[in-house]
Amino acid sequence: DWTTRDFIDHAVDEIRTKVGSSRVILGLSGGVDSSVAAALLHKAIGRQLTCVFVDNGLLRKGEREQVESLYQRNFRVDVRVVDASRTFLRRLKGITEPEQKRKIIGRTFVEVFEKSLKAVGHADFLGQGTLYPDVIESVSIGNNPASLIKTHHNVGGLPARMKLKLIEPLRELFKDEVRAVGAALGLPREVVWRQPFPGPGLGVRVMGDITGAKLDILRNADAILQEEMMSSGYYYKVWQSFCVFLPVQTVGVFGDERTYDYVIALRIVESTDAMTADWAKLPHDLIQKISSRITNEVRGVGRVVLDVSSKPPATIEWE
Ligand code: XMP
Repeated sequence: DWTTRDFIDHAVDEIRTKVGSSRVILGLSGGVDSSVAAALLHKAIGRQLTCVFVDNGLLRKGEREQVESLYQRNFRVDVRVVDASRTFLRRLKGITEPEQKRKIIGRTFVEVFEKSLKAVGHADFLGQGTLYPDVIESVSIGNNPASLIKTHHNVGGLPARMKLKLIEPLRELFKDEVRAVGAALGLPREVVWRQPFPGPGLGVRVMGDITGAKLDILRNADAILQEEMMSSGYYYKVWQSFCVFLPVQTVGVFGDERTYDYVIALRIVESTDAMTADWAKLPHDLIQKISSRITNEVRGVGRVVLDVSSKPPATIEWE
């Protein structure tokens, strides 16, 4: 509609005036906010924008490739993918406590991002997908864990250290307006209506200590869940749907063999703001299909369980 178009025209002018002939660097996470910020900045200044996407080794299956193909091929945005997965996994080795995992992931992210900026070359601006609610939230943080990580993806403190000026073209918008802008800029539905995904990624979905093998199992199970949620249309009807890896071995049978394999929990919730949530009552035949596909197709999983807890008292994530 015209208000969205108006906003875009106005924002493009403003960005051009502010940036001039300088360069802008933006940390792309693949989430709605940073994606729309990237698309808007790209419309305004084209190749003066460089996006940095950090692969922390805790991404879902195909996520990195999706970002690469969307931005580099479709939009011709300059995206630099930094593969830091080995650094992240090395530092997470043996760490079981969730907040400690978050701290390590957050700190490592800032470090990797900062280093990548040097490689990218001189820039005057750091672009960020800050929204209006983030602006308010940073004043009253409270105990919302989502705001904790905001400091990680928004790389707090970094602009000052790097002598970068901030450019935040979405800072007057609410989420629904950001989606409208994203759609008007031609971003696909999977990006505009993507479910929230935590900054620490699969790091807080592998319970306890994280290993490459456990991440692979979780990734394969989660890909099946996402595929079924997409093809049934439920992906867009729920708030979040994901798998959790439980490092518990349980007995099963496969042919005439006794198995002793891990457990995958399905966490599928409805919510409007993530402050409260209810487990989604999906059709039993869909749950059945997801479960049998996971146990049949994913090596190392012997059992699938469904999380039927609401928030509160359970949080959406398991860690
Ligand atoms: P909980 O688990 O607290 O999650 O009910 C509420 C919302 O926040 C997301 N979440 C996070 N997002 N970093 C993030 O960026 C985090 O550390 C983090 N922890 C939880 C969660 O996915 C849900 O949408």
